[in-house]
Amino acid sequence: MSRFTESTGKYLMLIEEELEKSLGLVVHSPLRESIGYVFSMGGKRVRPLLTIFAAEAVGECSDDVLHAAAAIEILHNFTLVHDDIMDNADTRRGKATVHVTRGVNTAILVGDQMMALAYDLLEKCSGKHLRESLRIFNEGVKQVCDGQALDESLSKSDGSSMPNYVDMISKKTGALLMSSGKLGALLGGGTDEEIRLLGDFGLNIGIAFQILDDMLDLEGDSERFGKPRGLDIMEKKKNFMFLKAQQSLDAGGIAVINAAYRKMSVTENDVVAVRKVYRDGGILDAAKKEVSDYTSNALSSLSALRQSEGKDALVELANSLVRRKF
Ligand code: IPE
Ligand code: IPE
Ligand code: MG
Ligand code: MG
Ligand code: MG
Repeated sequence: MSRFTESTGKYLMLIEEELEKSLGLVVHSPLRESIGYVFSMGGKRVRPLLTIFAAEAVGECSDDVLHAAAAIEILHNFTLVHDDIMDNADTRRGKATVHVTRGVNTAILVGDQMMALAYDLLEKCSGKHLRESLRIFNEGVKQVCDGQALDESLSKSDGSSMPNYVDMISKKTGALLMSSGKLGALLGGGTDEEIRLLGDFGLNIGIAFQILDDMLDLEGDSERFGKPRGLDIMEKKKNFMFLKAQQSLDAGGIAVINAAYRKMSVTENDVVAVRKVYRDGGILDAAKKEVSDYTSNALSSLSALRQSEGKDALVELANSLVRRKF
């Protein structure tokens, strides 16, 4: 077993323990069972691993780091519960979503309660770094909300461009990974420069992560990806593939895509047709290149850090995310 696999396995267990323990803080809440359901759905736990490895790249993984890592994962899970309401998504991580199983009102409250739970965990961090941790965390929260709002407005507009898209995904996805890296670096005892570099690392892998997520919406195996295929078309999302196609395909190709985007109900045949246009027109390859370029940017942020196991783990984490199929 590689050192990366071993330490990832160890930290994944510690993250699950933190999440499980946090349920003790809502033990009398009528929402406790639903929050437990969200935690039990699984997930890759990329953000808390990033926090932990960032801490190890500059110092070590303390209890404070684990609290912050779990707070970030809870915040992420809250955004997913609300995102699934907004995107009309029935499945997540291969399981029925919270609003489908428990109703929209409960799902809204589950999300709100999880946000408070995340602050409960963050507040456990020692006094020295508490104020700055809160600031970094809140910066992530505000940006995710802005990013999600921009995602909404782009889906309703015909005039979106690639720069609008990159701005939107930097906020809806990049910002939380940026906060994850910064929090790890801060609580691991890093310098201001190390905090900045690990924030940049998070932002860039976050952008790559979202472009790959857009690709997997069509290319993923929905069983493994755990989300319905073609949902971005159904929800008229101006994702990377759509915008790149508008810039570079001929009228015939664009017509196939626009026809699918205009439909009220998108079938598997529509998904197959759009996917073929993207593959044949070089859009899929362009997306893969973009993922690889942003990952390279991320890795270059690490080059100024001294050699450490944490730094090696961050390199492995970035490379494993490029290869991911779910
Ligand atoms: C899903 O995030 C939302 C995006 C930013 C694309 P993840 O792909 O990290 O979701 P889980 O936590 O592993 O389920
Ligand atoms: C990312 O966008 C969602 C959040 C930042 C909460 P998506 O809407 O593409 O994420 P998935 O595909 O539902 O996981
Ligand atoms: Mg969304
Ligand atoms: Mg979604
Ligand atoms: Mg998506």
